[in-house]
Amino acid sequence: MIGRLNHVAIAVRDLEKATALYRDTLGAHVSQPLAQPEHGVTVVFIELPNTKIELLAPLGEASPILKFLEKNPDGGMHHVCYEVDDILAARDRLKAGGARVLGDGEPKIGAHGKPVLFLHPKDFSGTLVELEQV
Ligand code: CO
Repeated sequence: MIGRLNHVAIAVRDLEKATALYRDTLGAHVSQPLAQPEHGVTVVFIELPNTKIELLAPLGEASPILKFLEKNPDGGMHHVCYEVDDILAARDRLKAGGARVLGDGEPKIGAHGKPVLFLHPKDFSGTLVELEQV
């Protein structure tokens, strides 16, 4: 059901520092920061030949990654995103198998302008999983 790894997201406190690390130390191509107030994050995309890395920094008091950064003060891997062809079919299959879909269970438009859903980390080996319809 799942296809390519679309991206790995890393939560960071200091977006400038993390961007410099990927750009200068690791020599990657990094995008300009993109504020996404509806998701409570500012995102930097790092394009790799086979996938993307997203650096996520909190935006606003209600940012969903603030709690994660409290537990992981140095930052850390926040989620992995797998591509699916049909997000509603994927959701229904996962729910039928007992997996929990976060939020109201309806896809939202994610950072790449495509529908996304998040799956509960407790159902996926302790990893928050994002599904993106491509
Ligand atoms: Co993501």
